[in-house]
Amino acid sequence: MTDTHGAGSLTPAIRLENLTRRFTGRGAETLALAGVSLDVAPGEIFGIVGRSGAGKSTLIRTVNLLERPDSGEVTVLGQKMLGLDDASLRAARQRIGMVFQHFNLLSSRTVAENIAFPLEIAGVPAAERKRRVEALLPLVGLEAKRDAYPAQLSGGQKQRVGIARALASEPKILLCDEATSALDPETTQEILRLIRDLRDRLDLTVLLITHEMAVVKEICDRVAVMEAGAVIETGTVFDVFTQPAHPTTRRFVAEVIGRAVPPGTVAALPPPDVGEERRLLQVLFAGPAATRAVISDVSRRFTVDLNIVSGRIDEISGRPYGLMALAAYGQPVAIASAIAYLRELGLTVTDIAESALSEEGH
Ligand SMILES: Nc1ncnc2c1ncn2[C@@H]1O[C@H](COP(=O)(O)OP(=O)(O)OP(=O)(O)O)[C@@H](O)[C@H]1O
Ligand SMILES: [Mg+2]
Repeated sequence: MTDTHGAGSLTPAIRLENLTRRFTGRGAETLALAGVSLDVAPGEIFGIVGRSGAGKSTLIRTVNLLERPDSGEVTVLGQKMLGLDDASLRAARQRIGMVFQHFNLLSSRTVAENIAFPLEIAGVPAAERKRRVEALLPLVGLEAKRDAYPAQLSGGQKQRVGIARALASEPKILLCDEATSALDPETTQEILRLIRDLRDRLDLTVLLITHEMAVVKEICDRVAVMEAGAVIETGTVFDVFTQPAHPTTRRFVAEVIGRAVPPGTVAALPPPDVGEERRLLQVLFAGPAATRAVISDVSRRFTVDLNIVSGRIDEISGRPYGLMALAAYGQPVAIASAIAYLRELGLTVTDIAESALSEEGH
């Protein structure tokens, strides 16, 4: 597991330690959580991405103990959750809002009444309920819809109600379980922007799960990739996108930004001459560096042929980067010197084993 940017010295808003959860049903056993540990720093938007069945929902539901782990420790805002009595747990849950994929609105209640519903349950007096609902409606852009019923709303509007309802208890933490998965791409963007905006205005910490890496790229600061109940990779979104370590992560990343090295292009490359070798290099640089100049400079200095196989300039988390695949031809020693020189220039050079390409090529 790589975590280049840990949660730092701040006390984490959410700390999950070595969580396990096993389900038994119809004779079959599923290890939904196989020892998951995770720290989410205050104020960050932390994404958990994984395929269906990876254990994402089970994991996020342990944060407010909708799901009790079999073992491990859950600490939220410095409070250990597993030992709490019922009253303390109810109080702790007030500090944790949750948004669901299918909104879960009450159809017989208006927008304003849906938002107020958890406050009614919690016994908040009517005047205070009204104050909070009035404050939330403009925050989520639903002032004009306060008296509408869910059936009269679009998917995006329904999710805005779901978000406002999650925020009614004035939580510090917002959990989102596939909050945009039932929405079209444009509405997804809109809801993601809203979540980021609310994080900024209300100082929220957001833990968000999704099966879409595009959502992670759009909104998250850090991300954990889950597979078969385990976290297989964690890091900043920038690092995970530009230098994914695990094959599963590479496949996820490729869905959004394409493969760094298209296998078909590699297959078409000429073989090296006798006495030479051919190596595939991935070169990562921050900012639109003068790549052509670097390449011709290195070629001349080290008698190495560098051919650009693919290249892209993009931006992640507001940081521009370039990612290039090069085929290097030359004497092994010359190629090694060229790589060392590129690294001296501050570029990140990874040797891509050609065998790794076929592993990803499906
Ligand atoms: N209440 C349950 N009883 C039995 N098995 C369960 C239960 N909840 C989850 N599981 C199993 O645990 C595993 C993880 O499920 P989970 O819902 O956490 O996955 P997920 O990553 O959220 O998937 P999805 O993307 O489909 O929502 C799956 O194999 C699932 O079938
Ligand atoms: Mg799920």
